[in-house]
Amino acid sequence: MKALILAGGKGTRLRPLTYTGAKQLVPVANKPILWYGIEEMVAAGITDIGIIISPETGTEVQAKTGNGDRFGAKITYILQDKPAGLAHAVKVAYPFLRNSPFVMYLGDNLIQQGDLSYFLQKFTTQQQDAIILLRQVSNPSAFGVAKIDETGRVLQLIEKPKVPPSNLALVGVYFFSHVIHDAIACIQPSARGELEITDAIQYLIDQQKQVLACQLEGWWLDTGKKDDLLEANRLILDTYLNTKILGEIDAESNIIGRVQIGANSQLVNTTIRGPVVIGSNCYLENCFIGPYTSIADNTQLIESDIEHSVVLEGAKITGIHQRIIDSVIGQRAQLTTAPQRPKALRFMIGDDCQIELT
Ligand code: DAU
Repeated sequence: MKALILAGGKGTRLRPLTYTGAKQLVPVANKPILWYGIEEMVAAGITDIGIIISPETGTEVQAKTGNGDRFGAKITYILQDKPAGLAHAVKVAYPFLRNSPFVMYLGDNLIQQGDLSYFLQKFTTQQQDAIILLRQVSNPSAFGVAKIDETGRVLQLIEKPKVPPSNLALVGVYFFSHVIHDAIACIQPSARGELEITDAIQYLIDQQKQVLACQLEGWWLDTGKKDDLLEANRLILDTYLNTKILGEIDAESNIIGRVQIGANSQLVNTTIRGPVVIGSNCYLENCFIGPYTSIADNTQLIESDIEHSVVLEGAKITGIHQRIIDSVIGQRAQLTTAPQRPKALRFMIGDDCQIELT
């Protein structure tokens, strides 16, 4: 059994973060999203893992993630020269996959721990040609959508339908036998110019192959947009965070609930109400850090209040006298109050940023 994790693509929905990096490396609870998928594979016993990378962000994904040693896995990187679709990625990965059955996992998806092992066991014992996972969503038009009959059999799969036939979205985790390669060889690019995996699965269904659709009961997040990323961060902190304090905390600081603070970080007169994770080499002075906040390494926060937010590496937030909530602050971003008069708002805002002022 092998795994294919897709970490290529364009990442347009997480702009501006993805102008400077891969969307699959954006951290959730201070760990790249991609790594959760790798860890799930290893926990399910799959250690031969291929990762699809793009020419734009592949080097960064590879440098950060390594050869798999840190996960107890063997990682093979597979370059997809253009984001020509999920089925195209499988085609490009054929020299790695050969005729082995495999799990395909979209590198920006997160599912509840343990669910992968559960469905993998189902796949291996039932000898299906494919297992797809479905989950009810409120906005099916943003996903691949399944039309099923009263017995739960899949009749049709449609990618991002304008008029969805149901609210059952395709989760970004699929189990395939080698027959998927024959299906991919028989499909054509969709109207948006991509070789769609939904079309390849539809082909299997039309050929009366064994395609089982299972409803996912645990949580699932596609972290493609800011609010989804914040929700993933909330869920991971809420579910898995344990207290671990390595940094230095002065007597005026106050730590409440589950909080992690990395090595060489320093807290001065700062209140933290968990669940909160703070990386290493951070400096926080006169701050309030509220629940569901992740603060990456090498950040500086002074005279600031923040909650339900994700702060990326090297960011600096100083003297913001209003509470920051529901925010994602990019790498090395600086948020400060004006030092000189006139008291005014001064910006240097990159492309595609979103800023809400009161
Ligand atoms: O998240 C679930 C949804 O994922 C499914 O419901 C859809 O049926 C499926 O098509 C997919 O839709 P998305 O629009 O979310 O796919 P996205 O373009 O974001 O790509 C998903 C992952 O695969 C992402 O990590 C980038 C990577 N990718 C994508 C393409 C198109 C590649 O590695 N190569 C590609 O060519």
